[in-house]
Amino acid sequence: MRHLVSLLAAGLLCLSASAQIRLSVHETAQDQPVIPREIYGQFSEHLGRCIYEGIWVGPDSDIPNVNGYRTDVLEALKALKVPVLRWPGGCFADEYHWRDGIGPRSERPKILNSNWGGTLEDNSFGTHEFLNLCELLGAEPYISGNVGSGTVEELAKWVEYMTADKGSMAELRAANGRKEPWKVKYLGIGNETWGCGGDMTADYYSDVYKRYALYARNFSGNQLYKVACGANANDYNWTKVLMQNARDKMDGLSLHFYSVIDWNRKGSATDFTANEYYDVLGKTMEVDELLRNHISIMDTYDPRGRIALLLDEWGTWFEVEPGTNPGHLFQQNTMRDAMVAALNLNLFNRYVRRLKMANIAQIVNVLQSMVLTDGPRMVLTPTYHVFRMFNVHQGATLVPVDFQAGVLRADSGRTCPDFSASASRDAEGVLHLTLANPSLEKEATVKVSFDNLKPRTVSGEILKAAKIQAYNEFGKEPAVAPVAYKDAKVAADGLTLKLPAASVVVLEVR
Ligand code: AHR
Repeated sequence: MRHLVSLLAAGLLCLSASAQIRLSVHETAQDQPVIPREIYGQFSEHLGRCIYEGIWVGPDSDIPNVNGYRTDVLEALKALKVPVLRWPGGCFADEYHWRDGIGPRSERPKILNSNWGGTLEDNSFGTHEFLNLCELLGAEPYISGNVGSGTVEELAKWVEYMTADKGSMAELRAANGRKEPWKVKYLGIGNETWGCGGDMTADYYSDVYKRYALYARNFSGNQLYKVACGANANDYNWTKVLMQNARDKMDGLSLHFYSVIDWNRKGSATDFTANEYYDVLGKTMEVDELLRNHISIMDTYDPRGRIALLLDEWGTWFEVEPGTNPGHLFQQNTMRDAMVAALNLNLFNRYVRRLKMANIAQIVNVLQSMVLTDGPRMVLTPTYHVFRMFNVHQGATLVPVDFQAGVLRADSGRTCPDFSASASRDAEGVLHLTLANPSLEKEATVKVSFDNLKPRTVSGEILKAAKIQAYNEFGKEPAVAPVAYKDAKVAADGLTLKLPAASVVVLEVR
């Protein structure tokens, strides 16, 4: 049967069938972890049109804005409940000098963004603009500090500028319009220090990390949560060395993983075959093994689980849209991206005892974005809809589920499960299920049973599209948008659900 599923998945057989899934929801399980809100985190970099045009148009723009932040994007992001926003990079962070981005905007230096297309960066979006945005969104700021080309003193002073309530840095901040210090929790000490952030070895960086971390002080009641730069994908040695050498000085260790099959031929974001779809899903699901293995190393050095793992860059990375600057990483976003998001978010919930944050790359106009803009126009991407549907899990208590899934296999041999699910209970006691059927060929019939719960009502939303390559275009009716879900039947022994091929569902069960 499983072999048949693979053949169907690879498009080699054209039978139409329905997968039968038995999903057990253990709502009576005790001592379950809370799903950190930060699992639904975002990342914003001075890259392409992420910050400029995507978020910030300036107060004098013709594009409707609130103090310079474009209104449409701001409202869309508020609805998303962004819990944490990482900034200013990425690779950009290790060439960012924060003093360039304070004071009167007209006097700020203009620099070349050497990482991303050589674009002129006028620094009109700096520390104040970022931290005020976080306040507007209700998001925790996650500052990514410059280790690669900066100094210990520069980072120490930045922390003081943002968070101290007295002294010269506080006075400078007040002179620039902000008397009260901000609260800044997350401080990343370097980004990709094995690559664009300094090209260091793990041994060397672990000493550098400790030096920077030492002088990043807590001011005025602010408590920093210090994040060491972690591994690239499956570089387990990096995690081992950092845990060996610097574990006492860190609150979290990061990890980066992009769902890229071949960095030299990343493939089109919109024009792909069924086999390429399954290959990308197989690639993205390699994160399961990565999380398991990095966590196992962390367990060895930190058995009590004090130090968090933060997957602070993840997502799809395809060729840029034809005709756009290759250094700006602007890609479209299809129902395939939505499926990638759903599979990852369901999976992350399984690791939340150690995994405390994940930041999809990136929030606007770059890589697997939430929203895309074109001048004054904006579209919500399929990925946005998944994040909005799944945000019911933010801060909720995990409810364990179990099920047997089949396997979808691409020609490359990469595999992905043919069903994905997760559940949580919110503060009001309401149970939410998030489900995905990634098969392009088969509907899934899901029999849901509970330990004790006798469901009375079920309601929800479904995201699906006429084809997996569908995406939302500027100025057109959205091709991918959620609608009310009507295919649930409540029975004495649970629920029966029908999940169409390539669909994502969120349910509220009472
Ligand atoms: O997200 C784009 C880039 O990917 C980031 O700048 C860098 O950290 C990573 O390599």
